[in-house]
Amino acid sequence: MQQIVNALQVSSVTDVVSLFAALFVFLIGAAFLTILAFYVIDRTQTKHAIRRNYPVIGRLRYVAEDLGKYFRQYFFADDRAELPFNRAQRAWVYRAAKGVDTTVPFGSTRALAHVGTKIFVNCPFPQLGDEDVPAKEVTVGPYCKTPYATDKFFHISGMSYGAISKPAVQALSRGAKRAGIWMNTGEGALSPFHIEGGCDIVFQIGTAKYGVRNDDGSLNDDKLRRVAERDQVKMFEIKLSQGAKPGKGGILPGEKVSKEIAQIRGIKVGKDSISPNRHPEINSIGQLLDFIAHVREVTGKPTGIKMVLGAYGWLSGLCEEINRRGIESAPDFITLDSADGGTGAAPQPLIDYVGLQIQESLPTLVDALLVHGLRDRIKVISSGKLTTPSGVAWALCAGADFVTSARGFMFALGCIQALQCNTNECPSGVATHKKHLQRGLVATDKAERVYRYAITMHKEVCTVAHSCGVDDPRMLKRHHCRIMGANSRTIGLHEMYPPGGSFAPARDKPDTITDGAGVAAQ
Ligand SMILES: Cc1cc2nc3c(=O)[nH]c(=O)nc-3n(C[C@H](O)[C@H](O)[C@H](O)COP(=O)(O)O)c2cc1C
Repeated sequence: MQQIVNALQVSSVTDVVSLFAALFVFLIGAAFLTILAFYVIDRTQTKHAIRRNYPVIGRLRYVAEDLGKYFRQYFFADDRAELPFNRAQRAWVYRAAKGVDTTVPFGSTRALAHVGTKIFVNCPFPQLGDEDVPAKEVTVGPYCKTPYATDKFFHISGMSYGAISKPAVQALSRGAKRAGIWMNTGEGALSPFHIEGGCDIVFQIGTAKYGVRNDDGSLNDDKLRRVAERDQVKMFEIKLSQGAKPGKGGILPGEKVSKEIAQIRGIKVGKDSISPNRHPEINSIGQLLDFIAHVREVTGKPTGIKMVLGAYGWLSGLCEEINRRGIESAPDFITLDSADGGTGAAPQPLIDYVGLQIQESLPTLVDALLVHGLRDRIKVISSGKLTTPSGVAWALCAGADFVTSARGFMFALGCIQALQCNTNECPSGVATHKKHLQRGLVATDKAERVYRYAITMHKEVCTVAHSCGVDDPRMLKRHHCRIMGANSRTIGLHEMYPPGGSFAPARDKPDTITDGAGVAAQ
């Protein structure tokens, strides 16, 4: 009897062990199958670049992000601690681009009392109704053969094909077309990928004149004419400097000069290509205006310049020379980049220490134009971390006609600010030439995000304008924006930068020049 009981006990212990063993094997198998399923789903889905490039493991990012909102207060840095763009700024772009609700609950998490915070002054009696006030059409280059008109005020800033990947350019081009905005080629010339989406294009002429050059690097008028013959190319931008690397040219190493890049840029395959640190033929205000006139003559299209402002006394000389030659001689637009603008790669001293930031340089440039009566003639395009509605609305208040962004649109493409643009290892496929990483960026899906980001930006800036009581976002003026000071009191932008103030002939009479709307705060 005892033997039977013992046998039964042994067999039930054995059964339990085998049951657990079977369960364990089952769980391992199930986990394996789940991971396999996730792997296949992640690898084949087209919406999320990180999951596509890093299947399964990429999901941890979303889990961490999700848990972050519960644990952040105990463990993590606050929303506004990251640089160059903090999490709150990026989150707004991601939400806008994904088309998810951009409303926020409970109250502002913005440190409203921080020095430099922008506050817009709402009007006591805004227009009845919730409708956003749409922007009116603006014409650039009224004196050239083919002026350009657009009602959109937020566009894509220059990024070369080369600095960003083929699918990134394709997605931008398609998204820009849907949103009705322009895309700037950057200095790397016009590629078939810029064209294929059908959007309006601003062709940038960099110092190496890629795409429109002779072998010695000088401008080739025939090539320039052929680019201009494309209806899609609406304007030409002569790049004098860029915020992240003022006064610095570039070298495109031979190994990056593939047959395709060589053909697009007009250089030799496999040979280093040097961009001079300035246009060799532009060494004075007179030569600058001559070159602008030449490009405009050859292309028949609006022609402007891009620069970051450092020394700014010369702006008076520029405006005086324009007025001496006649108003037609002016650049049709000036794109003003901020010293904290982005780049694929640049030396740290130039990124960190050289040039003025847009907060100071934009009102300064606008003042120079106001004082010399050129404000309407020369359209002002502004860029530099203007990636959310507050930045764009501020720029319109300060006097910009248009705002462009590079990194905002990179975020819309899925950039996670991994800061790898210069290593060719960009995990989201935006700034890399590695095919397996580019695979994550599916142009058709990201085009949708580019479109949504652009239209949400327009809509939300219009919402600010509506609240401020103006009929058009471009009617936002300096008195509509106040900047938080150290004593927790705001100061009006019109008081900080009285319109015309930096260049007023009599500095004690700044209100002799108005920004067109008076300065009465509402
Ligand atoms: C990856 C990358 C490539 C860029 N390439 C160019 C270029 O070819 N030409 C140019 O004028 N600016 C270039 N820029 C600067 C942008 O056009 C823009 O002026 C600057 O980044 C500020 O805008 P953001 O703060 O919205 O990025 C580049 C920026 C980035 C991030």
